[in-house]
Amino acid sequence: MARVALVTGGTRGIGAAIAVMLKGAGYRVAANYGGNDEAANAFEARTGIPVHKFDVGDFAAVKAGVATVEAELGPIEVLVNNAGITHDGMLHKMGEDAWHAVIRTNLDSVFNLTRAVIEGMRARGFGRIVSISSINGQKGQMGQANYSAAKAGVIGFTKAVALENAGKGITANVIAPGYVGTDMVRAVPEEVMKAKILPQIPVGRLAEPDEVARCVLFLVADEAGFVTGSTLTANGGQYMV
Ligand code: CAA
Repeated sequence: MARVALVTGGTRGIGAAIAVMLKGAGYRVAANYGGNDEAANAFEARTGIPVHKFDVGDFAAVKAGVATVEAELGPIEVLVNNAGITHDGMLHKMGEDAWHAVIRTNLDSVFNLTRAVIEGMRARGFGRIVSISSINGQKGQMGQANYSAAKAGVIGFTKAVALENAGKGITANVIAPGYVGTDMVRAVPEEVMKAKILPQIPVGRLAEPDEVARCVLFLVADEAGFVTGSTLTANGGQYMV
């Protein structure tokens, strides 16, 4: 029986590429989304992947959303924590709202989702958890104290979860993409992109979402059971840890 995968933020950007690639590889995929009904409905119509709307930052909503997916498709064996937002601004200008919104959606969500699936994975003796962090969680980024903190938090969280579940057939890993050609990155002011970001990428371009999805496909494979607690960078050579 094909394994069941849930991708958060799975109807646009990197998440959509991940959901489509997993489906193409034979997984039974559900795609979560938070607010953009139009994009989600178009995605579902285009790909045949069922979409599930719930707020990944809300613990109770996640529990209910996971239960709905599991009722439809069966137990979630592959979790891809991809949903994320930015609220960029220098710390000296950053409001409390921008801090909490980013921590909630980008880090609380990873706890909420992983917590909702981990007991079932432990009971069944199999699980693959991949969380999308960022180059900016590794190196820091001006204008992103909130985002960098959340994305660094994802890495620490994953290492603890990897240790706790290594004996249960469950792996937990991180992918740290660099700048990918999505709506999120297109929100960066054009002059900043041209003058500050692109020149720092040795490969000389933004990544394609599929180039991140390929990394997910590798990490969630049954055969990848010895890879756990790792952070796989996919950043065009921009930052080498
Ligand atoms: N890298 C290097 N320098 C940057 C920079 C960046 N990404 N962003 C801004 N700067 C520089 C500006 O060029 C400027 O430098 P100078 O004073 O030498 O001209 C200085 O920082 C101040 O910038 P602004 O004048 O634009 O100041 P501001 O207060 O109006 O805005 C900002 C600051 C919010 C940081 C804004 O410039 C911005 O949004 N920058 C982009 C930040 C960024 O890279 N976000 C990543 C989004 S993509 C993402 O998050 C996905 C992922 O995981 C990689």
